[in-house]
Amino acid sequence: MSTLIFLFLVHGQMKLKLAAYPIPICVCVPTESMSTLIFLFLLLFSSSGAFSCNQIDRHSLLSFYHQTSSSPPLNWSSTDCCQWEGVACGSYGSRVTRLSLPGRGLSGIFITPVLANLSFLSHLNLSRNHLSGSSPLTVLSSLNRLRTLDLSFNSFSGPLLSPDSSDSFSQVSVRTLDLSSNRFNGSIDPWFLSWSKTLISFNVSNNSFSGPIPSSVCSGSPFIEILDFSMNQFSGGIFDGFGECSQLQIFRAGSNSLSGWLPSDLYSVRTLKEISLSNNRFSGPINGSIVLLSSLRALELHVNELSGGLPTDMGLLSNLEQLQLHTNSLNGTLPPSLMDCTNLKTLLLRNNLFGGELSSLDFSKLQKLQTIDLGNNSFVGRIPDSLCLCRSVTAVRLAYNSLVGEIPPCMASLKSLTQLSVSDNYLSDVVGALKILRNCDNLAVLFMSRCFHDETAINDDGLRHQSGFENLQILTLGGCNLTGQIPSWIAKLRKLKSLNLSYNKMSGPVPTWLADMPHLFVVNLTQNFLSGDLPRELGRMPALIADNTSSDFGYFALPFLFNSQEYNRLFNMLRGLNVGNNSLSGNIPEELGQLKLLQALDLSNNNFNGSIPNELSHLVNLETLDVSGNHLSGEIPQSLTGLHFLSWFSVANNDLEGEIPSGGQFDTFSAASFEGNPKLCGNVLKRKCRVVKQVELEQPETETETEPESSWFNILSFGLGYLVGLLAISITLLFNSSWINFSFKH
Ligand SMILES: *[C@@H]1O[C@H](CO)[C@@H](O)[C@H](O)[C@H]1NC(C)=O
Ligand SMILES: *[C@@H]1O[C@H](CO)[C@@H](O)[C@H](O)[C@H]1NC(C)=O
Ligand SMILES: *[C@@H]1O[C@H](CO)[C@@H](O)[C@H](O)[C@H]1NC(C)=O
Ligand SMILES: *[C@@H]1O[C@H](CO)[C@@H](O)[C@H](O)[C@H]1NC(C)=O
Ligand SMILES: *[C@@H]1O[C@H](CO)[C@@H](O)[C@H](O)[C@H]1NC(C)=O
Ligand SMILES: *[C@@H]1O[C@H](CO)[C@@H](O)[C@H](O)[C@H]1NC(C)=O
Ligand SMILES: *[C@@H]1O[C@H](CO)[C@@H](O)[C@H](O)[C@H]1NC(C)=O
Ligand SMILES: *[C@@H]1O[C@H](CO)[C@@H](O)[C@H](O)[C@H]1NC(C)=O
Ligand SMILES: *[C@@H]1O[C@H](CO)[C@@H](O)[C@H](O)[C@H]1NC(C)=O
Ligand SMILES: *[C@@H]1O[C@H](CO)[C@@H](O)[C@H](O)[C@H]1NC(C)=O
Ligand SMILES: *[C@@H]1O[C@H](CO)[C@@H](O)[C@H](O)[C@H]1NC(C)=O
Ligand SMILES: *[C@@H]1O[C@H](CO)[C@@H](O)[C@H](O)[C@H]1NC(C)=O
Repeated sequence: MSTLIFLFLVHGQMKLKLAAYPIPICVCVPTESMSTLIFLFLLLFSSSGAFSCNQIDRHSLLSFYHQTSSSPPLNWSSTDCCQWEGVACGSYGSRVTRLSLPGRGLSGIFITPVLANLSFLSHLNLSRNHLSGSSPLTVLSSLNRLRTLDLSFNSFSGPLLSPDSSDSFSQVSVRTLDLSSNRFNGSIDPWFLSWSKTLISFNVSNNSFSGPIPSSVCSGSPFIEILDFSMNQFSGGIFDGFGECSQLQIFRAGSNSLSGWLPSDLYSVRTLKEISLSNNRFSGPINGSIVLLSSLRALELHVNELSGGLPTDMGLLSNLEQLQLHTNSLNGTLPPSLMDCTNLKTLLLRNNLFGGELSSLDFSKLQKLQTIDLGNNSFVGRIPDSLCLCRSVTAVRLAYNSLVGEIPPCMASLKSLTQLSVSDNYLSDVVGALKILRNCDNLAVLFMSRCFHDETAINDDGLRHQSGFENLQILTLGGCNLTGQIPSWIAKLRKLKSLNLSYNKMSGPVPTWLADMPHLFVVNLTQNFLSGDLPRELGRMPALIADNTSSDFGYFALPFLFNSQEYNRLFNMLRGLNVGNNSLSGNIPEELGQLKLLQALDLSNNNFNGSIPNELSHLVNLETLDVSGNHLSGEIPQSLTGLHFLSWFSVANNDLEGEIPSGGQFDTFSAASFEGNPKLCGNVLKRKCRVVKQVELEQPETETETEPESSWFNILSFGLGYLVGLLAISITLLFNSSWINFSFKH
């Protein structure tokens, strides 16, 4: 008897195996009663014969097959449709219960009635295809056993439902409805889900819905656990209503145009684990009642207009792992109880108005903290020692505050730290800081711009003779008024990709060892007192010749600001050599032409002389070229017009002469790119070039020779000459056409 039950249970799934191995199964049941054998016989017959798949279902599936196409094509040729790819049948007389073809390259206009006869279907997954059409939800009116409908990542469009269809949804049992990442638009009727008492998960993110968020959605569907409205164009306020969602766990409506205060009845939904309302225009305070949501794991309210302070008893949110409140107008001090959120992994509070003494906070309880960003606030005091006790921390950003004192020596123990930014503060002792941080073995990114003021040299002996910074890839020490020469210990940073020592008072030469740093592709020495020649050796910098950037550094845990743009990947940075505003002299080395990958070259405001090397035209990736403010002479090489990506160019204030090249990107540069070179000529400067030497002798050109009379005269005489020429050519052609024909034949 037990065998019988077993066979019954596995009927749906095991048919193939029973059909393929009928003998072992017969051997298994020799002692069973006659009825078992009859059943088994029937079973084997049905599995191998044409009756295994319900013919209504088969017909429906074939209609679907003919309506869509797929690549590679579906092999739906065998007779038993229950064995077709993506199809599964249940035990109700072999009715199709699942149709699952995600990412199967299906395309075509999906007209839902073709599936309407699959009345036992409970799972339909057509996600990640190229299906289009409108109102696919009408399928629900006939498939009242459907529990899962996943149409995400397709091209469905139009409103969710046609206005007249909602009455027909009397008996719907759908639980999971994923319509995300399509092109649906229009508004969502708040009562639209009232026909589905069983709905648990509703995802319409990444469409073009507009109008208000349907906040009364739970009055019809009280068991909803997941609601995702993010990435649409919903607008207006969120009104009370979600309080009825007594089972809600995930609520997302980020990246819309929602405004007003956060809905306060949400705070009564104690089941909430995630609230994500970022990238909207919500204003007003964060209601203190939010701390009642003790299951909350993620609170994401970043990029809004929220104001006021954090609730004093934040610590009640003891399950909180992600707190992202950055880019708002929140103010006040951080409540000490925040440090009781001991499960915090991510704490992002940058771009707010928070203040207060940072060292009064005890970070040591945040043992799971990985990423902390307090940048661009008004925190004062010293960097707290207790931060060193956050053993898991990988990224720390304290930039743009008013912190004082030194880097705490205990930071040397932060072995998992990969990224630290303390730029734009008032710290002291840069050498001490470097000696401490070099022990952070995994440190890859170190931003310390404008945080030390009037420091001395960083070419300290202690740094030169010890190891450290083995994984450093970005070192930024700009704007610190550092003096002395560029220290040679930097040559030991073999993984360094970007070095920024701009806006300091460093003197001496540009070191030749820069040429041998294997991965360096951003060198920024702008505005220092560097002198001597620009070493020709720089023409062999490996990372500016061939792309050897390994992917050993993917995304930054925290984005960093660079030239007021936010970057979260290193390789997006412009490959550049910037030595502008120094006292460098000599010729521009023609060897620089070998740096094929260079995107920005700034040699401006130095004492370079000689001509602009023709070889610079080999820099095919160049986007910015600035050699202004030097003593360069000769002509601008015509070959530079071949630099197709050049969007910024300046040779202003030199001693260049001759005609400004035309063509290519040069047609887009304005007079400002060339001014301050009295001997340059060309249309852009409204200064004629001397074409005929004879004319030049008779009427020497002056800078003021732009009078309308002379221009008119030129145009007229040119025009006349042109006409005469044309006439002459035509006449010649006319007279010689026979001769031309003749000569062509031979
Ligand atoms: C659905 O069933 C009806 C009635 O049996 C039939 O007329 C219709 O053609 C079927 N539709 C499809 C797509 O199989
Ligand atoms: C299609 O599937 C059948 C079995 O269902 C198989 O015999 C046949 O070789 C397959 N055809 C292709 C082109 O894969
Ligand atoms: C649909 O299939 C995709 C791909 O296998 C899967 O990721 C997704 O979870 C499925 N949808 C549902 C609702 O099960
Ligand atoms: C909703 O669907 C999108 C993909 O379109 C997915 O990224 C998101 O995680 C889903 N939301 C929830 C709450 O699962
Ligand atoms: C949004 O939808 C489009 C189109 O389906 C898709 O390509 C894109 O990846 C989706 N974006 C997200 C974040 O899911
Ligand atoms: C929805 O999109 C269609 C075209 O894609 C457009 O004609 C229609 O006006 C849109 N409806 C709304 C409400 O935006
Ligand atoms: C905060 O929320 C509570 C309960 O949800 C509500 O009674 C109160 O009015 C709200 N306070 C503010 C200032 O919105
Ligand atoms: C915070 O901002 C609110 C207005 O948004 C203001 O009333 C309050 O005084 C501010 N608090 C502090 C500590 O600056
Ligand atoms: C600091 O934050 C304010 C307010 O969010 C923003 O306007 C400003 O651009 C930020 N400054 C920096 C340097 O990030
Ligand atoms: C650097 O020194 C100059 C004066 O030499 C001063 O004006 C400037 O504020 C200093 N910069 C910093 C960041 O300390
Ligand atoms: C380099 O330093 C300068 C001066 O402090 C700063 O303006 C610039 O943003 C820095 N660049 C990077 C990538 O940090
Ligand atoms: C170098 O620094 C200057 C000043 O901060 C900045 O304008 C320039 O874009 C930087 N260049 C590169 C390649 O980092």
